[in-house]
Amino acid sequence: MSERVGVYPGSFDPITCGHMDIIQRATKIVDKLIVAVASPHHKKTFFDVQTRLQMVQGAIEHLPRVEVKSFDGLLVRFVREEGAHIVVRGLRAVSDFEYEFKMASANGRLDESIETIFLMASERQQFTSSQIVREIASLGGEVTQFVPQNVIQYFGKK
Ligand code: PNS
Repeated sequence: MSERVGVYPGSFDPITCGHMDIIQRATKIVDKLIVAVASPHHKKTFFDVQTRLQMVQGAIEHLPRVEVKSFDGLLVRFVREEGAHIVVRGLRAVSDFEYEFKMASANGRLDESIETIFLMASERQQFTSSQIVREIASLGGEVTQFVPQNVIQYFGKK
């Protein structure tokens, strides 16, 4: 049987414990998961793409069926190039829904063979977001409970 490959795309600016929760749960559904870090082309980010890749790499090191790559341009193109048909996204509060619904619909229209599946964030991670983490860090707050251990050092460097 062919390998079931999933792509988990995002800015990961930075990767959070919420993302880690989705990654771990997605590996129960797919054989291989590619964490796809969007290049700066999509959105102005706090950390550059190389740093975001390194942060994800360090965080997933212990997960054998997970890898990280960056992508530029259309997500569906990247998904096809990787031989995947599944896009994984996490859903937190209802406020995520409209944006996610539009994105999944657009991707479905661009390539009918691609399905987006949503995993609900665990209760503990409902309000964890990269934006909140950046804000706490920029105000000198403690972010250890929101990001994987290896990510903390990068805030020190900024
Ligand atoms: O973590 P984010 O910022 O919510 O991730 C958004 C991302 C990168 C997944 C989304 O912007 C994306 O897929 N961009 C690629 C461009 C694309 O394919 N656009 C058309 C479908 S919306």
